[in-house]
Amino acid sequence: MVQVDVFWSYGLGASMALAAGRQLKARREQAAATPPADRLPGDPADPGSLWRNPFFLKTILYAALLFAPSGAYLLWNFPDWETMQAGTRDLPAWLVVCFAITNVTQAMLGFWVVERLMVAGRRYAALLQVPLAYLGMFFILVHGWDGTGWRRFFSPDAAHYRAWDGDWARWLTSDVALTLAAMGVVLLPVLFAALVRWQREGYALATAREYGVPDADLTDLAHGVLLHDIGKIGIPDAILLKPGPLTPDEWQIMRRHPEIGKLLIEKIPFLRGAVPIVYSHHEKWDGTGYPRGLRGEEIPLGARIFMVVDAFDAITFDRPYSKAKPFDVAKAEIKRCTSTHFDPDVVEAFFKVPEALLAEIRRKSLES
Ligand SMILES: [Fe+2]
Repeated sequence: MVQVDVFWSYGLGASMALAAGRQLKARREQAAATPPADRLPGDPADPGSLWRNPFFLKTILYAALLFAPSGAYLLWNFPDWETMQAGTRDLPAWLVVCFAITNVTQAMLGFWVVERLMVAGRRYAALLQVPLAYLGMFFILVHGWDGTGWRRFFSPDAAHYRAWDGDWARWLTSDVALTLAAMGVVLLPVLFAALVRWQREGYALATAREYGVPDADLTDLAHGVLLHDIGKIGIPDAILLKPGPLTPDEWQIMRRHPEIGKLLIEKIPFLRGAVPIVYSHHEKWDGTGYPRGLRGEEIPLGARIFMVVDAFDAITFDRPYSKAKPFDVAKAEIKRCTSTHFDPDVVEAFFKVPEALLAEIRRKSLES
């Protein structure tokens, strides 16, 4: 119904945003943790606009492909009932189209309001949007603007409404009611499936977070660790394999490998999350690193974690130019470079990892 659907579609959009609340929060946090320079278009970390938010887009799709067309169909075929007996049988087509459009824009508005309220930390106000929308909807259905809303609802057309005889049950077998039931069979399962699925996804996300880092970030971290030096394939062998020290000019070329790495993988969708690590793995906490000379928290978190772990790895493994050293030597060395090379918080977190676990990890990596 024209008067009801504006509330209903607002409530739909709001409930969809609530169902995806945890995912939306995770997206915002990821966006906040990624320095603007590392954000790529379409990246989940790109806060951009809502237009890049898959939940928002799916809400629009639902409203545009299912909800709005069903409303427009009802308005076109049952103009008396769909306008609560206020319309006429010769509605212009453009009015029907306008009505369909408001069904989509209201859903967008509901989603947007809930998202904004959650960003502002006003969770209860966000939660209230759904009951408020349904309150508006049922108020119109039952009371209407003149106290006859329910009578208008239970009259299949204007003639029945004018000659109201109290027989509301007759409406149940009317064409309007049967059409509504048929639409419900399609509309409701799709809606509930989306709400339940998003909610479940959100729980899984919350559980993963209990243990620290979300799954998606762990995958990005793993890719970054694996590919951090991939840009070296763009460095000439004469420099890469040179036995002696590099000249200043050669260093300049060598220092381009993070950028080459970034260019290589940023076009590959599933590796995009690793770009911040590949591009920033030679930055230092005090801003003396390269290629951009980022300082402190400007350096992506993944790259800060990588640097500490990589340093530990380099010191405790046998290398062509140095013998493996014990864990406590590595830890002392990392401690010495904290605040110049490494993020103090990351170092602190790393030092909390039990040595037995580090030894176990090393044993496994030596075996494989
Ligand atoms: Fe490197």
